Amino acid sequence: MIERAVEVLSGRKRILVFTGAGISTESGIPDFRGPQGIWKRFDPADYTYDRYIADPGFRRESWGKRFRSPYLDAFPNDAHHAVTRLWESGHLIGCVTQNVDGLHVASGLAPEALVELHGTANRIHCISCGDEPEFGEIEQRWESGEEDPACHRCNGILKTTIVYFGEDLPMDATRRAWDMAEQADAVLVIGSSLSVYPAAFVPLDVVDRGHPMVIINRGKTDHDFRAAVLIDGTAGEIVPTLVDRLTGSE
Ligand code: APR
Repeated sequence: MIERAVEVLSGRKRILVFTGAGISTESGIPDFRGPQGIWKRFDPADYTYDRYIADPGFRRESWGKRFRSPYLDAFPNDAHHAVTRLWESGHLIGCVTQNVDGLHVASGLAPEALVELHGTANRIHCISCGDEPEFGEIEQRWESGEEDPACHRCNGILKTTIVYFGEDLPMDATRRAWDMAEQADAVLVIGSSLSVYPAAFVPLDVVDRGHPMVIINRGKTDHDFRAAVLIDGTAGEIVPTLVDRLTGSE
């Protein structure tokens, strides 16, 4: 099936890459809806913006999970690096990711190429005044005992920029994602069930504009029927091979 994907994507210069949790599982970070997915162990209804704002105990738990996360030292894998190579070889309009793990950034993907549509665990902001303290500063304060550090500017609630259920997507990221979808001439979905909105509308918008969608995913997605090419397999193996073929570096 890679042959078919090469045929469909060859020669295109404005491919939109859309990634989900499946691109990071080979870096040791679990996905949400796969066989070992996070939502098989936790209830997504617990991870709401309203609960974060109302419940100091939940905030303390969230900071503990963030600063003690075993995923803190996850590294980008071959699929992340392949996406960066595809950008650097001039084939992409950009990459819109639903992931908050920062691994596309860690793989060296240029900031202008990347939209973190669901925010990132590596940035912190005040929900009241919008101040964005350094991650390290808040980590220091937490390490020295402040379990629910407040904004130093307005004493408001601090939060990573991860978008919780019930929270609006960041305006700037949303606008940039739609701009990319508008200009794209194809969309390559990697490791997403395409089951969460409005994020999933981004790749579907490219299809609605009459351009092909290639899906690389382990198992089904909610929109397989709209794909020009479906590759049921592992991102870390398939994406580098596909990128080698598209960039002629094979
Ligand atoms: N290679 C290819 N596909 C993989 C791999 C892999 N190594 N590992 C897992 N997958 C597939 C899974 O089988 C699954 O179909 O990736 C898909 C990931 O789907 P989800 O777990 O639903 O993750 P995602 O699509 O990113 O979820 C979207 O849901 O809970 C919210 O905000 C959260 O951003 C997340 C959003």
